[in-house]
Amino acid sequence: MTSNKILVALDVASGVEALALSDRLRDVTGGFKVGKRLFTSEGPDLVRTLARGGDRVFLDLKFHDIPNTVATAVAAATSLGAWMIDVHASGGLHMMQAAREAALETAAAERRHPPLLIAVTVLTSISDAVFAETGGRGTVIDQVLRLAELTHRAGLDGVVASPQETALLRQRFGPEFTIVTPGIRGGGASTAAKDDQARTMSPSEAVAAGASFIVVGRPIIAAPNARKAAEEIAAELDSRLSGLA
Ligand code: C5P
Repeated sequence: MTSNKILVALDVASGVEALALSDRLRDVTGGFKVGKRLFTSEGPDLVRTLARGGDRVFLDLKFHDIPNTVATAVAAATSLGAWMIDVHASGGLHMMQAAREAALETAAAERRHPPLLIAVTVLTSISDAVFAETGGRGTVIDQVLRLAELTHRAGLDGVVASPQETALLRQRFGPEFTIVTPGIRGGGASTAAKDDQARTMSPSEAVAAGASFIVVGRPIIAAPNARKAAEEIAAELDSRLSGLA
């Protein structure tokens, strides 16, 4: 069983571990997320290696800077062969538009498929209280919707959304909008503990709510048998999609 909707978060310390995991999971899942930890320790070579081997790499570096800096970073990520790249929507419309243009221009110049460019709205670690502390007005969910709207206007492909936001965003932005949902637990992604994820959904619940892709880390990579854990999630999604669940 395989599911292209599963993106495995390669939250491990070394490139050797990441490549070993990718070898075990490649034909069961739809791609790999390389985040700040692995990228900082192993650098761009790992992304190049995975991408050259044909893997879909979500380069999760959440770029947030002045438009020119973000645009040139997105161009560099596109040249690495990243399949999906993210930025912070709070960088503003101009920053996101500059990022999009850079991705499209670089991909065209290098005859690559343009990467999916998505935005983080509000980090799930930000509560209403933390939002207020940093000068935010109103609720976090209002801010998520405001920034998702801005992302849509900037012409980006979609957003990263918590399980709580996924259904609302799918309803608001329609079927073409890419929604990437982390915070997956339960169902085929059962782990003994929820780790530090407070608000979660099972894989099939997240897809039912409208997730285009689910990001799964510890329920797969910390499982005694990572491949079996990934296969169980793929089977859960398959049975849902066949209407058997
Ligand atoms: O191990 P777990 O399944 O919780 O991993 C989820 C991955 O998604 C981690 O890499 C985490 O940093 C990332 N993530 C998240 N929540 C967000 C955005 C990203 O858990 N809102």
